Amino acid sequence: MTAPEKMSVDPAAVPALRVAGDALLPAIGLGTFGSDSVPAEAVAKAVMGAVSAGYRHVDCASVYGNERAIGCSLGRLLASGIRRDELWITSKLWNDKHAERDVILSCEQSLRDLQLDYLDLYLVHWPFPNYHPPGCDVTARSADASPYIHERYMATWRSMEKLVAMGLVRHLGTSNMTVPKLELLLRDAAIRPAVNQMELHPHFQQQELFRWVQHRGIVPVGYSPLGSPGRPERDRTPDDTVDMEDPVIVAIARRIGVHPSVVCLRWAIQRGGAAIPFSVNPAHYLSNLRAAVMRPLSDEDMTAIAGIDRGCRLIKGQVFLWREGQSWEDLWDPGGRIPQ
Ligand SMILES: NC(=O)c1ccc[n+]([C@@H]2O[C@H](COP(=O)([O-])OP(=O)(O)OC[C@H]3O[C@@H](n4cnc5c(N)ncnc54)[C@H](OP(=O)(O)O)[C@@H]3O)[C@@H](O)[C@H]2O)c1
Repeated sequence: MTAPEKMSVDPAAVPALRVAGDALLPAIGLGTFGSDSVPAEAVAKAVMGAVSAGYRHVDCASVYGNERAIGCSLGRLLASGIRRDELWITSKLWNDKHAERDVILSCEQSLRDLQLDYLDLYLVHWPFPNYHPPGCDVTARSADASPYIHERYMATWRSMEKLVAMGLVRHLGTSNMTVPKLELLLRDAAIRPAVNQMELHPHFQQQELFRWVQHRGIVPVGYSPLGSPGRPERDRTPDDTVDMEDPVIVAIARRIGVHPSVVCLRWAIQRGGAAIPFSVNPAHYLSNLRAAVMRPLSDEDMTAIAGIDRGCRLIKGQVFLWREGQSWEDLWDPGGRIPQ
């Protein structure tokens, strides 16, 4: 008879990435974006279950609309004996809060909601101050939408830096950035981003940006690491491909006797980044965490997965465009130029 599988993973066994030379970021975190369809309470219950199962890294954001519910879970976990310094909690500044004063207020609100004194990491969620309401469709545009304006981004970043001085945030990070925008930020920042959160999965490997940030000591954290099968309708187009159905992923999964999700996550970690899969299903989030502690994929498997990149961006960001008639590619600086 085989021994029953354990229902938890020892957090000490989960690999961690060194952030800004000192702190340790667990390589698997729990994503908490319910894709406008999973209720806040279900996500909060998953946070409770996931931390009990061994997760120590949770990826939150004010725009996900569930930080207050997640805060109840974090409060209970901390009251039950988990130490604050064992957890890594990320949150993000939403696009309508880029103004100097709003950055501080928004961070303070996230802290209150999450029942925390400090965040381990605070990200600027998107480099555009272009608001759109939750649940809107892909054609929604904010009336005062604008392109990336570096001076405005830096004004936001200066307030982010103040949060560190105030002791509210340990590390700063970026999200949905490109090399041209990051070059400007690294030139002008007093506090460099420690992390860049970016879409990463086998069909969208972003090899150039991934290596670029790594070489500058910035940790790449991959979102939608399973290819975001539950993403909202507005983020679906007919050309999108499905990572977990790729024949290379499926063949590796079959050979080593795991689900394709495990292969995607193992590849993400072994490649040198962190991954933040979302799940409210206990069997799924446990399996996702186990991917961090399983036997490594072979060099041949890693090479085979490197060969299936399709350049298939799923979270295209159309709602952040600022002019009629634009293509979503304009958000991602085609040709290395930041369009105005
Ligand atoms: N910075 C940004 O702009 C940004 C953008 C997008 C996402 N994110 C972050 O990244 C996180 C993850 O991204 P995501 O939610 O888009 O995509 P994802 O993690 O690639 O996919 C999540 C989906 O996969 C399913 N799933 C999870 N584990 C599974 C497993 N073991 N087997 C089969 N299905 C599984 C989940 O359903 P079940 O619940 O049924 O398991 C859910 O529908 C978000 O939650 C958020 O925290 C950040």
